[in-house]
This record gives sequence, C-alpha cells and structure tokens, in this order.
Amino acid sequence: MSKKKIILGIAGGIAAYKTPDLIRRLKARDADVQVVTTRSASHFVTATTLQAVSGRPVRENLWDSEAEAAMGHIELARWADLVLIAPATAEILSRLAVGGAPDLLTTLCLATEAPVVLVPAMNRVMWQHPAVAANCRTLLQRGVRLLGPATGNQACGEVGPGRMLEPAEIVAELMQEAEAPSPSDKPREQSLLGMTVMVTAGPTREAIDPVRYISNRSSGKMGYALAAAARDAGATVRLVSGPVNLPAPENVTVISAESAKDMFGAVHEHLEDVNIFISAAAIADYRAAAISNDKIKKAGEGMSLELVRSPDVLASVARLNDRPFTVGFAAETGNLREHALGKLEQKKINMIVANLVGADRGFDRDDNTVDVFWQGGEQSFPRMDKADLADKLIALIAERYQENIGADTVAELPTIRHDT
Ligand code: CTP
Repeated sequence: MSKKKIILGIAGGIAAYKTPDLIRRLKARDADVQVVTTRSASHFVTATTLQAVSGRPVRENLWDSEAEAAMGHIELARWADLVLIAPATAEILSRLAVGGAPDLLTTLCLATEAPVVLVPAMNRVMWQHPAVAANCRTLLQRGVRLLGPATGNQACGEVGPGRMLEPAEIVAELMQEAEAPSPSDKPREQSLLGMTVMVTAGPTREAIDPVRYISNRSSGKMGYALAAAARDAGATVRLVSGPVNLPAPENVTVISAESAKDMFGAVHEHLEDVNIFISAAAIADYRAAAISNDKIKKAGEGMSLELVRSPDVLASVARLNDRPFTVGFAAETGNLREHALGKLEQKKINMIVANLVGADRGFDRDDNTVDVFWQGGEQSFPRMDKADLADKLIALIAERYQENIGADTVAELPTIRHDT
C-alpha cells in the first residue's frame, strides 16, 4: 500500500461515519488518500474531519473552479492508483452500472483507468433487491471489485446482509490483494449476488437410547459443496448441518442439528429472508417412538423397535405462503426418473436433483452424477467431482430461480389498455 495514491469516494450512507477511521488506517500503511464525497455524504461526516485525517482538502463539486484549477478532474482520475468507494450506496451502484456521471465521484470512475473497488453498505432489503443485484452483476462483469457486505446488526435496527465491512477488514482485503495479485483468476459469475441461500446437508441421527441411534450413509459432501458454491456465486449462505466430519466452509453460517426434529426447528428458525432453499440433507423419515433413558439391554433372540414418522422439512418449507424457491434431492436405487418426478409433484417443490445410490455410487464419494428435473424441463450432469458439480448445479438453480422471479413479475405487471 506504500505510496499508493487512493481516491476514497464516500457516498451518503450512515456507514460514512466510519471513513475517518478507514483513512487513518490507509495512511498508517503510507497510502496517499484523496477524499471525494458525494453531496449527501456531508450529512453523515464533515469535510473538516475528512480533511484533518487525510491531510488533503476534500473534493466534492465538479464545478469548483479553484479545486479544478489546482488539479482538474481528469488529472485526478489519472493520478489515482486505486478508486475505493466506501460506503457504496444503492444509488452510487446504480449510477456506476449505467455509466452516469452527474457528479465528481461518478465522473472520476468513468475517467480513471485505475481499478475500482466498491464497499457496499445498505439496508438488507435494499441489498437483496433484484435491481441492486443486477447492478452489482453488471459492475462485476466489467471488472469492478466488491468487498462485502457483511451480515449483522444494521443502523436501521434490522439484522441481515448489507453492513459495510469494518475499516480494518477493508484494509486487510486490499493488502491481501496487493500481496497476492492473481490476474489469471477469472472472476466467477456472481449469479446469486444479494440472495440468501439455505442448504441442509448430511445425515440425521435419531436416538434410540443414550448410546445408539439410527442414521444413514450420507457424508454431507454434496451439501457442503453446494453451500461453498452458492457462497462463491455471491450469496449469503446458511448451512444447516447434520453430524458430519467436514470442515465448516469459510464465510458460511453453519447451524448444527442432530435429529430430523432438530433440523426442522433449525430450518424454520433461520428461514427469514431466504430466497433459495436447497434440501440436500438425508433426513430420517422415521424416529424411535420413545427414546429410552437407559441403555437397552439385550433380551431374547430378536427385538423390534417402534418407529414413528418425522416431519418432512422440505415439504413444510414448500407449503409456506411466503416460500423460497425450493430444491429437493432424491437418492434412489432404481426408477430414478419416475421417483424424482413423483417427489417433485408430491412435495410441490421447484426442482429436484436425483441420483442413484448404492454400492459404489452417490454417498460418501467425492464424485457424483445427477439428473435434475423441474416443471417442463430436465438436465443431466455426467460424473464429475462434487465441487464442480455443485458449481454447475448452483448455476442452474440461479437460472431457474431468475426465470421463476421473471415469470412472477410478468404476471404482476398491469395490462396496458390501448384506447383507439
Ligand atoms: N426430506 C426432508 N425431510 C424428511 C425427509 C426428506 O426434508 N423428513 C427431504 C430431503 O432433504 C430430500 C428429499 O426430501 O431433499 C427426499 O425426499 P424423500 O421422498 O423424503 O426421500 P426419501 O427420504 O429417500 O424417501 P423414500 O424413502 O420414500 O424414497
């Protein structure tokens, strides 16, 4: 960061109050910081403070003849090694996405050849709005980099994705980038930007007594790979996981659940704001009618255990009025297509991912082959590594999700009357 010339753009969001700290941290790394604010930023942080910490007069107005005489806006755009905008509000994302230049900051972004890094900050509903997500996708495709946002308490009193990264985190991200440039890494398609995705994964354990349980062979690998792929596609991810031997994927919120009942509770408790629900867990359909408090002692040559049905988590989510886009899994030993289509219909879900399981197939392997079905369509994926398969499934889910949203929107559009 040493001697880097950074234009710090500050837009009008409450997180602007953190920018003096950000400037201080950039300057501590020996960066030269020129602050450029939008007009509304001054509602949240004063030019006097910003000038005091940056050591340079703050620029705001494209028509400030004195400042322009000292260093014109094109000169300033050429001067910068990096344009960093924090906080980047929904408004600034929109202006940059369409290439508008109504003020100094947006003009600089068009006139510079330096990398542009945006640090979004806004209310969680705004961040998840399809218009904001579309603007972000446009900007990412053009090579603009986004840092964050984080999930947590918001100034408006709500909790969710949209918080600006802390100044220390922003500087750490910039440092990491500077130290390990990877120009060959193509940015992934951020097809789920702004979305919240919940994935269930792994088996469940249904207790019989304090030492025994009923479970299945699911390893959780597919669900964990899907959670990581959804995160890489830009989503905020909640992973409800049964007992597995896998490391928690980075930047994914993991919620542990043991039994089908636990999983039902955990899913419904954390379902708020979820746009897409992917049910990859192998959830037990039955549990012991009664769990013995003491270890059951053997007696006689045989024994039987009474089992009762557990709640169907996926079907319960699909039944909600305000349901997310729902994706189920079907693990079958035969008649794959017939069973999968039956489950799609019966559970009233949007998509089903079906695979054959058995000796040497499906469970506890690093690869898999699946067929995906939805109303009016299907797609097969040949055998491949579960991580690659997860990327492809997430891309397909994102595409189907967008089409579904599109269909809803079209249905809600008012009809236009042409009076003749
Ligand atoms: N599922 C669920 N809750 C359950 C059981 C299953 O949410 N109690 C979900 C799984 O996560 C998966 C799908 O439902 O997405 C599987 O459908 P299901 O018909 O229950 O499959 P099986 O449990 O294998 O049922 P069957 O033995 O009847 O084939």
